[in-house]
Amino acid sequence: MSKVQPLLQEIMIGDLTLKNRIIMAPMTRSRANNRENRPTELHARYYGQRSSAGLIITCGSQVSKNAVGYINTPGIYSEAQVEGWKLVTNAVHENQGKIFIQLWHVGRMSHPDFHDGELPLAPSAINPKSKSFTYEGFKDTVTPKAMTIDDIKKTILDFKDAASNALKAGFDGVEIHSSNGYLFHQFFTKCSNNRTDEYGASIENRARLLFEVIDAIKEVIPENHIGTRLNPSFHDLFGITIDKETIPTFEYIVKKLNNYNLAYLHLSEPFTDVTNVPFSEPNIARHFRPLCKGTLMINNEFNQEKGNRVLQEDLADLVSFGKLFISNPDLPTRFELNRDIASWDQKTFYTPGEKGYIDYPLLTEI
Ligand SMILES: Cc1cc2nc3c(=O)[nH]c(=O)nc-3n(C[C@H](O)[C@H](O)[C@H](O)COP(=O)(O)O)c2cc1C
Repeated sequence: MSKVQPLLQEIMIGDLTLKNRIIMAPMTRSRANNRENRPTELHARYYGQRSSAGLIITCGSQVSKNAVGYINTPGIYSEAQVEGWKLVTNAVHENQGKIFIQLWHVGRMSHPDFHDGELPLAPSAINPKSKSFTYEGFKDTVTPKAMTIDDIKKTILDFKDAASNALKAGFDGVEIHSSNGYLFHQFFTKCSNNRTDEYGASIENRARLLFEVIDAIKEVIPENHIGTRLNPSFHDLFGITIDKETIPTFEYIVKKLNNYNLAYLHLSEPFTDVTNVPFSEPNIARHFRPLCKGTLMINNEFNQEKGNRVLQEDLADLVSFGKLFISNPDLPTRFELNRDIASWDQKTFYTPGEKGYIDYPLLTEI
């Protein structure tokens, strides 16, 4: 295979030219272990090493103090955090890379330990019966506080402010983390949302928050620099289960996103085997591609061969790679030269410091 492999072809998303279609998927790495939860030189080195990706999407970054649910994750709500992120965007841009920040609110997937003893916020007071990783280790999640309309309005503003901060920090755009069982996904799903107001009951109401957030963010960032992420067949994880309205809800969302000129829609194939799960959709790209008029990014368990194939079959325009980017900082070069792919060490996914973060060698260092 040579330069012509689909993964290595250039693409425009909005007015941004991506040098290839190999996207670094957002991955929490818990290295912001400082009082302000700000990114540091260490983050700049990590992302700088990976700037040959067509686009980097950063680790999930909390949009406010309320939005956090994991230890040592960076935020994008304070001046100090913006200054820290500037180190990162400079490092990536110096290498002609492009970088979006992932804007995150975990909703109920948190713990009072993160909120001075107060309850985490969520659409409804329904405990996900999961675990939260706190500074004292894993703890059982609790029944969250059902958000008031004021809480919702405040959260929308938090996303808007975070997007403004992202611009100040030099990001090329933002990805809204509306996936994987966190706040937006909790609104979308009936098992986590029993509201009876304009944010609950009907599909349209359960999807409303995402569109209100996009509408708010596009006041500060052009639509074509905003992406959003969905995981329609996410099941039996973080207290989220699929029901008969799940796929219709995501179909509604994907179709409504066509009214916007977003940078991309980022979809995941199922994280778990859903072949026997009633009402699930096992083939996400195949199912949703015909519904999506914009640029589609696909994820989960792709490698070079599968990535080239999904593009060749025109089921997606971009492919995001997670774990492969942890252990192969120069993944596009390895694909281009058909070189060996290094495996990752799960033990250092979330541990502080350099080990397992910036010490995976580039091909040129081997
Ligand atoms: C260590 C780790 C952290 C992750 N953190 C995030 C995150 O912050 N935001 C997100 O949307 N997905 C997150 N994910 C999911 C990845 O973006 C991706 O969906 C997953 O790794 C599957 O892709 P892969 O098979 O290419 O690794 C994380 C995955 C891993 C392995």
